[in-house]
Amino acid sequence: MRAAVLGLRLQMSLPIGHFGQTERVGDGAVIPTLTVAELEADPHGVFRAWRPKLPFVRHEAGGLLVLRAGDVDHMMRDPRVQATETLVPEMRDIPKGALFDIFAHGMLTANGAVHRKRRSPFTRTFAARLITALRPRIRAAAEDLVRGWIEEDDVDLVSRYTAQIPAQTIADILGLPYVDIPRFTRLAYKVSRVLNFTFGPEDVPNLETAAAELQHYVREVLEERRSTPRDDFLSRFLAEADEAGELTSLEVVIQLVQMIIGGTDTTRVAGATQVALLLQHPAQWEAVSRDPGLIPAAVTESLRFEPSVGSIGRVAREDIALDGHVVPAGNLIILSTMSAMRDDQVYAQPDLFDIRRTDHPRLHPIFGGGAHRCIGESVARIELEEGLSALMRLTPRLRLAGAMPVLQGHRGIRRIDALRVAW
Ligand code: HEM
Repeated sequence: MRAAVLGLRLQMSLPIGHFGQTERVGDGAVIPTLTVAELEADPHGVFRAWRPKLPFVRHEAGGLLVLRAGDVDHMMRDPRVQATETLVPEMRDIPKGALFDIFAHGMLTANGAVHRKRRSPFTRTFAARLITALRPRIRAAAEDLVRGWIEEDDVDLVSRYTAQIPAQTIADILGLPYVDIPRFTRLAYKVSRVLNFTFGPEDVPNLETAAAELQHYVREVLEERRSTPRDDFLSRFLAEADEAGELTSLEVVIQLVQMIIGGTDTTRVAGATQVALLLQHPAQWEAVSRDPGLIPAAVTESLRFEPSVGSIGRVAREDIALDGHVVPAGNLIILSTMSAMRDDQVYAQPDLFDIRRTDHPRLHPIFGGGAHRCIGESVARIELEEGLSALMRLTPRLRLAGAMPVLQGHRGIRRIDALRVAW
């Protein structure tokens, strides 16, 4: 399987005949089924080839991939399109257990009043104005991390930096001890694979074990907090949840499991990707290092160009017409934000990485839309901005010390292994 190299501009568009299988969907139109292998090999090239031709294609692992920016944006708010509840684990034959619980009891896949009651205990803590207060602490943490390796010759920026910033931040917000970081991040990165569909039936027992261990870890922390409450988010969350009695004890655990997964893996990958993209475009790295005012724009453009989350899952509750085709009711819909953010109907020269572009929509599609829009957007942006800013200040001559990192994946949370740099 050939992997997509970050930022590589593919001149070639794949011939239609390349995609073997086709299937009739809804109105009888022939819709191709794209294989996981071809999507993993060159997601941007595949999306670029199909986007002008069809509003959606079928995914080998199940579901319809919606490709165009206008449709993706609209469907995130369309009441006929809903969160998937337990559709995904059912489609993938995931038995009832800790992995299944993430879908059955979490906010991410819930609808209506159930979604609101699971999400609302977090909205105050994650409100932009409260999160802004974390900025100085995140800045200091980023600088400390750089000072921790600056005397070495080279370093893997993913494990020593971009993974640590979000892990320390979520530990601060939830009040988890830093010594637990290796434990909960290892489990979170494993479990998050369930959202990117690159696993087969043979991987399910492994993922199940990791999900059970993560659940167990959260239960341990909660028990400790119940017996020794503190003046922190977790103690207040527990007290309020107990008093309101709206969440079951499993729901309490699963919301925290989702916070740990959402708060670590996504931003770890995004942090490494933005550094890699800027190093691959040295003039833009230089520009940012001369003018730190460009940092937010560099973060925004990196999130568009190579997003750390490739898609958002939904289900059609009714037949939905899209440009002469029909998405039949009951189908899993995979809103490809990754494809949407390279759509030339919205972005001029979408395959060009340009931190000065002025055509970003007001709300960045990478964080979704509607009721489920990412609750951690403000945290993530501050982490990414401060992470980049500390590197610009302390290691302005940063350079790649190995090959360009490989960003893999086209759906759910994407994956990056390592980013070796020197300075
Ligand atoms: C670059 C980093 C991030 C990206 C790209 C990202 C992306 C997303 C997206 C696309 C959604 C919507 C999913 C859907 O509609 O099905 C989402 C939801 C969510 N995110 Fe993030 N996220 C990031 C960082 C974070 C952080 C730092 C946290 C926590 C501290 C977090 C926690 C969550 C949670 C709990 C949800 C579920 C919200 C709900 O269903 O109501 N995310 N995220």
